[in-house]
Amino acid sequence: MGSTPVGHQLAVSAVSWQTEKMTMPFLRRTNFSANTRTYVAHRVCCEHSCFEVNDVAYRPPGTKVNLLDDVSLSLREKRFGLIYGRSGSGKTTLLQLIAGFSKPTSGSIHVQRYGDDGHPTGSPKNLDSNKVGFVFQFPERYFVAENVLDEVTFGWPRQRGGSQLKELLALRLQKAFTSVGLIGIPLDQDPQSLSGGYKRRLALAIQLVQSPDLLLLDEPLAGLDWKARADVVKLLNNLKKELTLLTVSHDLKELSPLVDQSWRMEMGGILKAVPPPV
Ligand SMILES: Nc1ncnc2c1ncn2[C@@H]1O[C@H](COP(=O)(O)OP(=O)(O)OP(=O)(O)O)[C@@H](O)[C@H]1O
Ligand SMILES: [Mg+2]
Repeated sequence: MGSTPVGHQLAVSAVSWQTEKMTMPFLRRTNFSANTRTYVAHRVCCEHSCFEVNDVAYRPPGTKVNLLDDVSLSLREKRFGLIYGRSGSGKTTLLQLIAGFSKPTSGSIHVQRYGDDGHPTGSPKNLDSNKVGFVFQFPERYFVAENVLDEVTFGWPRQRGGSQLKELLALRLQKAFTSVGLIGIPLDQDPQSLSGGYKRRLALAIQLVQSPDLLLLDEPLAGLDWKARADVVKLLNNLKKELTLLTVSHDLKELSPLVDQSWRMEMGGILKAVPPPV
């Protein structure tokens, strides 16, 4: 790839984005002198990783029916993936497998790095479940603590870990609260007394404190009023700059501006790639 003068970085990145979406070569100016402008075809690509599900089938132990049937998907880092489909088709089951709550009956889930040329570099790595966050449907129903601080720090090491670990966790807490716009809320407040939208922000913060690379969200807008829904959509749009998001939702219209890739789950756990909703 040719060098990119600083003044043209914005234009070039816009073209890169387009190329990636269209997966087509394009004409790129490589010589920026006033008199001689040379255009050559390039396929712009850069190093990145993808989270990949390969031919995953799942049959719960002791049952005879597959809930998921040869499911495959690939989602690039810092992208927003949307899965939708009829109730009972297997969407939540798939998220649970990705989160590592249960093991696929067959197939694999891993992370693959790709080089500048778009080819895989190195062998696929197992998805580290410590780097995967999961925001359940109606997460506020699972709040257990009496105040916001205890809710976020629930499960943190109490005795073990020196001041360095505590400092790290405090920094992560601050970062997570800033990301979801919770800075300023009283830490001694009862989580159940928060508004619907703020409860959802708190549920997101609880996951973000773990610094996940991949965040799974099951119906993140369900049960919220229009204002809180708009707030959560905005928040997810900001989070996309930092991590990969895979969301199950029926709310296609509201989420459509965020979606990079989408899939429809059909009854019987069959996943089909479909164009992002408009
Ligand atoms: N452990 C299990 N054993 C047997 N069947 C199960 C188990 N878990 C889920 N199911 C069934 O698997 C199917 C898929 O469930 P799942 O919750 O994944 O669907 P969903 O697409 O998320 O639906 P919804 O949109 O209603 O949330 C359902 O028919 C459900 O009853
Ligand atoms: Mg579900």
